[in-house]
Amino acid sequence: MNLEMLREATRAQMPDKRWKHTLGVVETAIKLAKRYGGDSAKSELAALLHDYSKAWAIDRMEAVIRENRLPPELLVHDKELWHAHVGAWAVRTEHGIEDVEVLDAIRYHTSGREGMTQLDKIVCLADYIEPGRDFPGVDRLRELAKQSLEKALVAAFDSTIEVLIQRGKRIFPQTVIARNDLIAQLK
Ligand SMILES: [Fe+2]
Ligand SMILES: [Fe+2]
Repeated sequence: MNLEMLREATRAQMPDKRWKHTLGVVETAIKLAKRYGGDSAKSELAALLHDYSKAWAIDRMEAVIRENRLPPELLVHDKELWHAHVGAWAVRTEHGIEDVEVLDAIRYHTSGREGMTQLDKIVCLADYIEPGRDFPGVDRLRELAKQSLEKALVAAFDSTIEVLIQRGKRIFPQTVIARNDLIAQLK
């Protein structure tokens, strides 16, 4: 499967708006990889595939989680988290993507995790700050992204956690762990 075929297969999974977002994440991930000496090819691939299952029906994602023994705790947390794990499963089974670093970057792009790799950080941050994003504070994240992947990601997770608190929603523990770990890395 070459990159062009993967692009078409990915585009076919989602509405145009999500595809435009995906292209923004690809562009931003490549820029971040260049800035921080990351792997541009893996950044491009992981960014292209990061939202592969985002537009899938909830029932379909739930079935994948249950039938393939993806982490069952996902089911009690926000459905926003599901597509990341389901997407990693899908690109492996449907397209034979076996690169563990790429699969992990897809799997953890929403939640983060302890010990995020550079590729995890690039894809996760690119997802927050791609040019189509427009939420309060995004410009500050874009500025921080020029200084430090870790500083920008801490600020990004803080904004997510703040929104979850304001809305009275649950916080996925792995995101708190990811944030604390990034702060430790900055010390
Ligand atoms: Fe996503
Ligand atoms: Fe995304």
